[in-house]
Amino acid sequence: MKRIGMLTSGGDCQALNAAMRGVAKTLFNAKEDVEIYGFLDGYKGLIYGKFRMLTGSDFSGILTKGGTILGSSRMPFKLMREPDENGLNKVEAMKQNYHKLQLDCLVILGGNGTHKTANLLKEEGLNVITLPKTIDNDLWGTDMTFGFQSAVNIATEAIDNIHTTAASHGRVFIVEVMGHKVGFLTLNAGMAGGADVILIPEIPYDIDKVIGAIKERHDRGSRFTILAVAEGAISKEDAKLSKKEYKKKLENYAYPSVSYEIAAQIEKKSGMEVRVTVPGHTQRGGTPCPYDRVFASRLGSEAGKLILKGEYGFMVGYKNREIVKVPLEEVAGKLKMVDPASSIVKEAKMLGISFGD
Ligand code: F6P
Repeated sequence: MKRIGMLTSGGDCQALNAAMRGVAKTLFNAKEDVEIYGFLDGYKGLIYGKFRMLTGSDFSGILTKGGTILGSSRMPFKLMREPDENGLNKVEAMKQNYHKLQLDCLVILGGNGTHKTANLLKEEGLNVITLPKTIDNDLWGTDMTFGFQSAVNIATEAIDNIHTTAASHGRVFIVEVMGHKVGFLTLNAGMAGGADVILIPEIPYDIDKVIGAIKERHDRGSRFTILAVAEGAISKEDAKLSKKEYKKKLENYAYPSVSYEIAAQIEKKSGMEVRVTVPGHTQRGGTPCPYDRVFASRLGSEAGKLILKGEYGFMVGYKNREIVKVPLEEVAGKLKMVDPASSIVKEAKMLGISFGD
């Protein structure tokens, strides 16, 4: 008999359900006597003992379903060791609920913050297996996270749709792409959508270089320019500020996001008409793309295999086209970022894409 707890934590993304289905089907098909308990709304469910038992029918028909059947929430790692408003010790509560249900293992699906807590639970003696989800693809230890390819598709479609209207009006358009503090999503969607300028956090921009790239295009006869700007894009000046100084700047920030600041600067300095489009959370929504369905199912299945073998304490990831198990302590607390010297960036530059650097 195996008793498994499952939870999805942090910002949702496509293929969470596909991944959980992959784990469950693998376990059920192995003819093991298995009980799966789904904790609701991420770590909150584990802390406060909110769960429901999941059977085969819960995992049926969810391969293509976006979101998560378990619900999710953000529970910052730094607050995990803080008692809640009623003085409850969250870590102890999670351990107690795990032991009360006599679980053999927790399957935790999440991104960066989630992995820090998953590793903490491992250090506290619980058996944990994790799966890497996030549209940002910023998780250390895996070349790819599920959700990423689906989000690339949506952000690309947003850029594609802007192309025709930008061309009709001869405007400069900024499409702001999610990705938190990293630029994988913007870089990939920008290249796929044929953006002329791509601004990502890893390569701070100089606004005059950005305007120079737009003008160069216009001088060559192009009526419009499309910029794919990461929500975390940062100017060279801001990148030089200390954390404290940058925080202070953001406190008095006059714009909803960096794209609007860039738009205002381009309009002021060049007189060109600029529009901003923010697809926002649509990038995390809807049905997973076929790649993510297959990818998440494979990761889930491998997680199931580890559980059957009783091998715990790993994230199931993807390295050099192979599914691998990565010790949780190697993943927790590290951010994977775009390498400005990587070949994809060099190739993008050779294609004539400006990074504003
Ligand atoms: O981490 C996924 C992500 O969608 C980021 O790209 C984005 O910065 C963040 O979550 C948005 O978070 P929230 O849904 O809490 O607004």
